[in-house]
Parts: sequence; C-alpha cells; structure tokens
Amino acid sequence: MFQFFQKKITDFSFLRTDIHAHLLPGVDDGAKTTDDSLNLIRSLHELGFHSLLATPHVMAHYYPNTRANLEGVHELLIKDMEKAGIPTELRLSAEYMLDPNFEDLLQTNQLMSWGDARYVLVEMSYIAPAPRLETYLFTLQVKQYQPILAHPERYLFYHDNFDKLKALKAMGCHFQLNLLSLTGYYGSHVRRSAEKMLKKGMYEWAGTDTHNLRQVEALKSMAASGQWMTTLLRYPFLNQKLYL
Ligand SMILES: [Fe+2]
Repeated sequence: MFQFFQKKITDFSFLRTDIHAHLLPGVDDGAKTTDDSLNLIRSLHELGFHSLLATPHVMAHYYPNTRANLEGVHELLIKDMEKAGIPTELRLSAEYMLDPNFEDLLQTNQLMSWGDARYVLVEMSYIAPAPRLETYLFTLQVKQYQPILAHPERYLFYHDNFDKLKALKAMGCHFQLNLLSLTGYYGSHVRRSAEKMLKKGMYEWAGTDTHNLRQVEALKSMAASGQWMTTLLRYPFLNQKLYL
C-alpha cells in the first residue's frame, strides 16, 4: 500500500512577501541601526520571504515620519543591502495610525500605498478604537484605496465583540494576521482571537510585524515546530498572489 507523506513545512516561503515589518533603521520602535536592519532582513530572507514591505509607523507625536524622510532612509538601506549581498527585495510603505495626522495625509493624497489595489496598512490603539474609524475606512475606499487593518486580533476591545469585526469586514476592510499571534507571543487572549478569526476565514493577509531579532527567533521556532504551518499554507492569503 502506498503511503503519501506531506513534506513538513519549515519556513514561510509559501507566503512569498511579508507585508508588515519595521525594518528601516532609527525611524520607529523597530530596527535601531543599519546593522539591526540588515540582520532582520537577512533573517526574514532565511525564513523564506522573497520580498519585504517596510512598514514604519507613521504616528503623530511618537513617530512623525514623512514620505520624504522615509524614502531617504529606504534608499540608503537598499544600498547597504546591496553591499552586504542580501538579495531580498525591500519595498517601502508605512503602517498608519488612524489619528488626525492620518486624516491630513488622506485628504491631501499623501499616503504611500502599494500594489495594484492601492493597499494601505492602518492600525489603532490597542485600548480603544479610533474615534473616526468607519469614516476613515469609508473615505479610503472612496479615494480608491484598499484599507488593511493590521493585527485585528490584538485589539482588546474586539475580543468579546466579534460582530464589530464582522461589520468592519462588511465595510470592505481587509484584515492582516500577525503570524506570532498564533503562538501566544502576545498572550493567550490574542492567540484565541487569532485562532477564531482564522477558523472563520476572516483574514486576507499575513505579516510578521517584525521589530527585533527576538520576534524573528519566535518565528523560527514557530516554523520549526510545524504547528500551524500546514493550516497557514492552505489558507488563501493574498500574500501568495502578490507581486510588488
Ligand atoms: Fe507594526
């Protein structure tokens, strides 16, 4: 009798592109130095990601990044990657906090979107939803952007209010899973929420949200353990179809 063995999945190459990572040096709470950036990028490449989207925080007061300063840092980092012989493709976008600064950028058409569908990654405080969340999501789509809400499983106020998440989805918002949420890295409540959303097929995207090497090590352990990997491989994440 023939027996078929499925090859064990030990990296994230099936996702191709990581759409959420804090890889630019010195612009937010991610990589601090160029060496940090190169180490993180090399490690994500070893984990199977062929291309990476740098998504530094753009957040009034805390991380007042602009397109101009981010483009400058990105350009220098690309040169350093070439010198270091790292073959990964690194594209620039941002993770936008839904605050009044975001509204200005949206109204003045200054958002750094990516892909054919003009995707824009957005986030909120973990404690309270953005006061004008629905308005932002609506306006983004009127302006022909496709909003992606980063790590919805991490927003505490939705843990007992899944109907609210369903309502955001019905409004056309995409959701992005933080891979480490499934491992309990952010706590058991977040893990349970991620499991539930995954089972209900609520995610369109997956990302690492990498800030540091500790997270990369946790991703390596996740991949090596094999737990979740087959489920993730079979899940129809849009990452797999994305060519930036
Ligand atoms: Fe992030």
